[in-house]
Amino acid sequence: MNAEPDKKVFIKTYGCQMNVYDSERMQDVLAAKGYVGTDTPDEADLVILNTCHIREKAAEKVYSELGRLRRVKNSRGKAGDDMLIAVAGCVAQAEGEEIVRRAPMVDLVFGPQTYQRLPELLDRRISDGTAVVETEFPVEDKFDRLDAPTRTLARGVSAFLTVQEGCDKFCTFCVVPYTRGAEFSRPVERIAAEAERLVAAGVREITLLGQNVNAYHGSGPDGGAWSLGRLLGFLSGIEGLERLRYTTSHPRDMNDELIEQHASNPTVMPYLHLPVQSGSDRILRAMNRKHTADHYVKVIERLRRARPDIAVSGDFIVGFPGETDADFEATMNLVRTVTYAQAYSFKYSKRPGTPAADHEDQIAEEVQSERLARLQTLLNEQQKAFNEACVGRRFSLLLERPGRYEGQLVGRSPYLQAVHIRSAKAQIGDMVEVRVEKAGANSLSADII
Ligand code: SAH
Ligand code: SF4
Ligand code: F3S
Repeated sequence: MNAEPDKKVFIKTYGCQMNVYDSERMQDVLAAKGYVGTDTPDEADLVILNTCHIREKAAEKVYSELGRLRRVKNSRGKAGDDMLIAVAGCVAQAEGEEIVRRAPMVDLVFGPQTYQRLPELLDRRISDGTAVVETEFPVEDKFDRLDAPTRTLARGVSAFLTVQEGCDKFCTFCVVPYTRGAEFSRPVERIAAEAERLVAAGVREITLLGQNVNAYHGSGPDGGAWSLGRLLGFLSGIEGLERLRYTTSHPRDMNDELIEQHASNPTVMPYLHLPVQSGSDRILRAMNRKHTADHYVKVIERLRRARPDIAVSGDFIVGFPGETDADFEATMNLVRTVTYAQAYSFKYSKRPGTPAADHEDQIAEEVQSERLARLQTLLNEQQKAFNEACVGRRFSLLLERPGRYEGQLVGRSPYLQAVHIRSAKAQIGDMVEVRVEKAGANSLSADII
């Protein structure tokens, strides 16, 4: 199978977990072509930047990285040693040809729906001798071809599995519907086969991914459309799979079947990432989120009735166009009502081609910064309080990696916290019962029971 042995690929991944998953699948596809991974661009034959377009800062990082890579490519070229540079991911999809204009040393540009074609694209670049730009949304299903039995490389004990891609919601600030295209759900049996391969390779925890994962409606073995709740129930039957998670969800798609899984299925972790963006109904409307703050709070209440120990995390945008002090206070109040275990918060960033970018009432950067600082102070206090409230509790941990010290291991709690333990016997991949002894700023420590 190794037609071209000894080739090395370096992939740098930006953005969300779906990009992490895609980078792994690119690595799988390239492994079949004789590429092995390397962790430095200096010795790579092929460098792939898997990019993110969500905020301006994320997108601009790509160009500074390309500047650095140009120097590596030049000095390598002088030594007669060729290095190909590829830009993949959401910036590739959004900017296409523009990337080659701004950075002419780029050899390949291809969007997230074309990874299955990577070997062909590479061949085309080599035979044509000019840059190849591929940003069509091909009719053939990306996953159909990625499902061909390429080598699934080792993934550790916790792995991502994309079950749904794209988004039809069109929030007015967001580029995802444009970069990832329309919503698509993979069939249940394909997902189950991939999950079984992962578990056979030693994976104990799988996080199902989708830009709108709880809008999942893939076709089931019975021919009908299955919900995410039903899919979770089905996958939890896989022998050796200890934990299931899913991200990212939309408040409108938290249906009863999914909430019921949290109540009845112990494999589904008591943790939910549910972005709300704002606590002001006026801003939620302007964002086209299609729900109110009250709807969100009620969803959380339903979840907590189903699973009282569930922890919630969220995403917030401050300084969306037109956001007043009162709107921002409504966000602060929502945070106080919900209480988060963890959260991500961002200043609104104007994205080309999205409706909110044309809004006249853009908010000054200083105002955005001041609001973000206040929100983050509150969210950090809540995170700290949550971690401290874990002291004395009993958790099951999935051990993921060795710690810094002899005899130390690091595992994940059900709530995604890193937990340090000491044990001479326990091994990576084990599930162990612990009692939490101490809460630090970013992690917990615990003793095995
Ligand atoms: N599908 C998910 C989120 C995808 S993007 C959802 O619907 O919630 C991840 C997060 O990035 C979003 O939740 C939002 O908080 C943030 N984000 C997206 N576009 C942004 C923008 N233009 N400016 C600032 N933050 C943004
Ligand atoms: Fe973006 Fe909204 Fe779709 Fe999430 S639901 S990916 S924020 S458009
Ligand atoms: Fe970024 Fe694309 Fe993910 S824009 S957040 S990498 S879907």
